[in-house]
Amino acid sequence: MGIEVVTGRVATDLEYLKRFTATPGNGCTRLPFTKEAREAADYLKEIMAEAGMEVREDEAGNVFGLVKGEDESAPCVMMGSHYDSVQNGGDFDGIAGVICAIEVARQMKENGFTPKRNFVAAAFCDEEGMRFGTGYFGSGAMLGHRDVEYCKKFADKDGITYYEAMKGYGLDPEVIEKAAWPEGSIGQFLEAHIEQGPVLDAEKIEIGLVNGIVGIQRYMVTVHGRSDHAGTTPMDMRKDAVEAATKVISKIPDWAREKADGTVATTGFIKVTPGGMNIVAESVEFTVDIRSMNNDNINDIANRIRAALDRETAAIGGSYDIDTKLIITPVELDMSMLKVMEESCKTRGYSYKYLPSGAGHDALEIGQVLPTCMVFVPSLDGRSHCPVEFTKYSEVARAAIVMADLAEELLK
Ligand code: GLV
Ligand code: MN
Ligand code: MN
Repeated sequence: MGIEVVTGRVATDLEYLKRFTATPGNGCTRLPFTKEAREAADYLKEIMAEAGMEVREDEAGNVFGLVKGEDESAPCVMMGSHYDSVQNGGDFDGIAGVICAIEVARQMKENGFTPKRNFVAAAFCDEEGMRFGTGYFGSGAMLGHRDVEYCKKFADKDGITYYEAMKGYGLDPEVIEKAAWPEGSIGQFLEAHIEQGPVLDAEKIEIGLVNGIVGIQRYMVTVHGRSDHAGTTPMDMRKDAVEAATKVISKIPDWAREKADGTVATTGFIKVTPGGMNIVAESVEFTVDIRSMNNDNINDIANRIRAALDRETAAIGGSYDIDTKLIITPVELDMSMLKVMEESCKTRGYSYKYLPSGAGHDALEIGQVLPTCMVFVPSLDGRSHCPVEFTKYSEVARAAIVMADLAEELLK
């Protein structure tokens, strides 16, 4: 299939999907179990059906399109990504990979290619973890890693749990475990994604062959102090939650820098309660997101944060608690599948480079247990998780073409 045709179709779909945002004119905000998520899921179902796939939505809000193979009982090849976004994110993160998967199915059909095994295009629900502070909800459910307790445990900033949000979306969290695929039913997982970093764009490389994905730990920390009058409470008689929290927060970036191996750590959310100019803070909530290809580094920084919290909260006579949102170890991706795509790049004359991913992906969750591979395409100026995120449709099309080559190789 010529790249022009693929580019045109990818453009049509991604342009259409852009409208499903809660923040029109200010990036893509498509949080899980919302009206926008429903609209996007319905559109995806429609185009999957048009591409000749058998379509279903599962108990976790994932959408699957099936191209039947000659042996339907053999482990399938699954390809996909997520259809949710972060708050005020871009129009490519996740959804471009879903469209690539559907495009691979279209190409199989047009090429008259009947796969030996099933090919499944997947659109996962809630990869980002934006709403509930978690991550990989849908792909985790597919692997049997989510249960009703999980759905009751995590809540969004308005106190709405997964459990409640799912009910409002027409899903039954009581049967979330039915979303799990039988062991052995998925043979390989493939994901196309925008890079979300600057390397490919800066080096003018067309395809990134992703050889590994960082491990991630995410925490919500609450430091408890005592609210008091800011003017009358002497400095040695106050329990200032901001003082203790910021002393810890300010050290976290340096602990990551010290590792000098690409380890990163971020506090992206801070909330002071009650939050008044003339009130000593009662409490501070903050998030920590730590990532590295070296899991020991992640554990070390998490331990240092706990030790610093012990010290700094004792110093103010306060306390703290930590809510663990996500712990996932780094993965190495499947070299044999990457090699097939390297050959495809050579044949097609696409420039390529092997690189690791600092962003999390459904492939990180799935790569823990199944042979998994990923390709990246360039992100303009490396910008992502913001409204200016941009990748040319012709660049997205290249990922679909390279992945179609791999899928046909696996399924012949
Ligand atoms: C998701 O894109 C993440 O890496 O947080
Ligand atoms: Mn993504
Ligand atoms: Mn993202």
